[in-house]
Order: sequence, then structure tokens, then C-alpha cells
Amino acid sequence: MPAKIIGTGSALPGLVVTNKELEQIMDTTDEWISSRTGIRKRHIAVEETTTSMAIKASETAVKKAGIRPEEIDLIIVGTVSGDKYFPSTACQIQEALSAQNAVAFDVNAACAGFLFGMTIADAYFQAGRADTALIVGAETLSKMVDWKDRSTCVLFGDGAGAAVVRKEDSGILHIVQGADGARGSALSCDSRPVNSPFARKPFTKEFFAADSLSEGSCADKPFRKDFYADPLPAPDYLKMDGQEVFRFAVRTVPKAVQQVLAEAGILPDEVKYFFLHQANIRIIEAVAKKLAQPMEKFPTNLQRCGNISAASVPILLDHVNREGNLQKGDKIVLAGFGAGLTWGAAVLTW
Ligand code: ACO
Repeated sequence: MPAKIIGTGSALPGLVVTNKELEQIMDTTDEWISSRTGIRKRHIAVEETTTSMAIKASETAVKKAGIRPEEIDLIIVGTVSGDKYFPSTACQIQEALSAQNAVAFDVNAACAGFLFGMTIADAYFQAGRADTALIVGAETLSKMVDWKDRSTCVLFGDGAGAAVVRKEDSGILHIVQGADGARGSALSCDSRPVNSPFARKPFTKEFFAADSLSEGSCADKPFRKDFYADPLPAPDYLKMDGQEVFRFAVRTVPKAVQQVLAEAGILPDEVKYFFLHQANIRIIEAVAKKLAQPMEKFPTNLQRCGNISAASVPILLDHVNREGNLQKGDKIVLAGFGAGLTWGAAVLTW
């Protein structure tokens, strides 16, 4: 599958919050967070938004790729924390970049979002529907977590990463992806409930009480007379069964990586770097062990960035690329896994 990453970019918010600083505002410790996850600090959006960071990362990736925005045929953004339900983050990037010839849309595959974007772009290339794609992972998880739930809020950070991928003679060698909706409840965040005058009060005792419904002016339709006096329901926040997610990751990711390498006819020893989704250092160590590969081949930035869901793989890729550690011809693996449950792995030549 001929396609190559020709430019990368990333953007992180200016505010850095350390574990020690979190100790001052909640019942947690640097020791608890760092020993269980490896995370020591994270960037938290203040003025920045998912869209503004996505645009910044995209502008850098396009500049580094040395292409004009009009050459982009496809913009795909992996995100679960877009600033708007619509228009999509991808369409907002399109406008900001003046990439008027692109088709633009978002995908929701959580922490596997960037890998899903790569897979879709690859399929567009193979079908002859695109030559140049901008793939972005962008998240503001700090607005999705409950800052009163110490078991989740300490894990996440904000940021965006982007890559320009172009149809070429070499590059993406193989991609696999998967989903298991049956285990989706391990990691979830509900959308806003139906809250019209005709809906029963959501998530309250009254939900089940027939007498909360009374006939209003809407003929025979149930109608909540108190609807306009009620405050809007509070938004829902991210919920996670940490141990279930841990088990899923350490079982699924090594299998996906082994599968993508085997199907591409490449040995793990031939791979220079494995860029894994930055959820937790213990997950990365477990994957390294199962693949019998040294930790030096697994670059990490979760210590200073935390878990940035769909943005974590492209941000890490950009950091390693900017440090000059990727040479032409290097074989690398990218792997993402997360809510859905979803996962994806790709092997490519730099
Ligand atoms: N500070 C101090 N104590 C805490 C904190 C905190 N921030 N959070 C939870 N605790 C306490 C709990 O209350 C509990 O106390 P108790 O025993 O008195 O009840 C104790 O620590 C243990 O809690 P567990 O949830 O059992 O902790 P566990 O050892 O499972 O570690 C963790 C939690 C780090 C999330 C672990 O399950 C894990 O690594 N899971 C992987 C999932 C992951 O990385 N998710 C990231 C997002 S998903 C993704 O990106 C794919």
C-alpha cells in the first residue's frame, strides 16, 4: 500500500500541571500517579481549544511536507472532544488552511482515532479517490473528565498532532484495525440526554413516575409543564474501568502488532521504533515484553504529556521526528487502542 508520511506537526497548550500541583488541589500523590502510570505532568488547555490546537499542528505538518493546502484531498480528524457537534473539526481545519479541494470529516475511534484515520486514508488512496491526506488527532480531554474523580482526571492531557500522508511508491506497508463494541462500557462518556418538553426527566426518580407526566396543551401528548423552570442537566463525564482497560490493552495490542508485522512479512527485530498510544507506561512495558523488544525501541512522552487519546500517537511521532531520530528507510510501527473498544496498528517505512 504505497503512501508515505511526508510531514508532521503538533501543538500543546501552554499550561503545564505537575503531579505535585495536583496534590495541592485533590487527594492524590505524585507517587501514586507516577508509579501506576508513569505520568508526571500534562498540558492543560486554558485559552486553547481542540480546533485551535488541531489547526496549529496541521499548519506545521503542511509546512514541513512542503505542499500547498490546495493539494490536500482528504482531511480526517480523530477526536472525541471536538468543540462543536458540527461542523466537524476537520471542516474547521479545512477553512483555516484554505484547503478547499479536500473532503473533510471526523472519526470517533477514541485513542485509536489517528490509526483509524490512517486506515481510511489508505483505503481512499487504494480506491484512487485521493493522493494527499492530512490526518489529525486532537483532544481536549480536560473538559471530558470529572475533576472531582481522582481515578481518571490525573491520567489525561490536551494537545493535537498531525501528519500529511501522500500516495508514493513506498511507505505504509500494512494496517490492521479492530473493534469490540461488546466491551464498550469499560470506557465511556455519555452524550447529552434527550431533554425536550416531551421527554421524561432523564436519570431521576421521576423518570419512572407516571405522575411526572401531565397533559399539556399538546393534545394527547405527554408534556412536562415544569420543563422551562428546570435547570439543564449537567453534562456527563468520562467513566473508566481501569483494570478492564488494562487487560484489554495488554492482550490486544501485542496481537495487533504481531498480526500487522506478520502480514507485512516483517520481523519485530527489523522495526526501529514502536509508537504506541501513550496511556500508561506499564501497558507499554507489557507490550514490549510480549514482543520481546527492548524498551529503547518504544519512545514515550506520557511522562510530560499524559494520555491525549487520539492525539498521542501523532504528537509522539512529531516529537521523535523533530528530534531528528527518524531516517529515510526506517521501519516503524504505530499502534492505538481505546474506547469502543477499538484498536489499530500500522507498519510503515519512513
Ligand atoms: N490518587 C491516589 N489514590 C487513587 C487515585 C489517585 N489519583 N485514583 C485512585 N486511587 C485509589 C483508589 O481509590 C483505590 O483506593 P482503595 O483501594 O482505598 O479503594 C486505589 O487507589 C486503587 O485504585 P484502582 O482503581 O484499583 O487502581 P489501579 O491499581 O487499578 O490503577 C489505573 C488505576 C492506573 C487507572 C490502572 O487501572 C491502569 O493502569 N489502567 C489502565 C487504563 C488506562 O491507562 N487508561 C487510560 C485511559 S484509556 C486509554 O487510553 C485506552
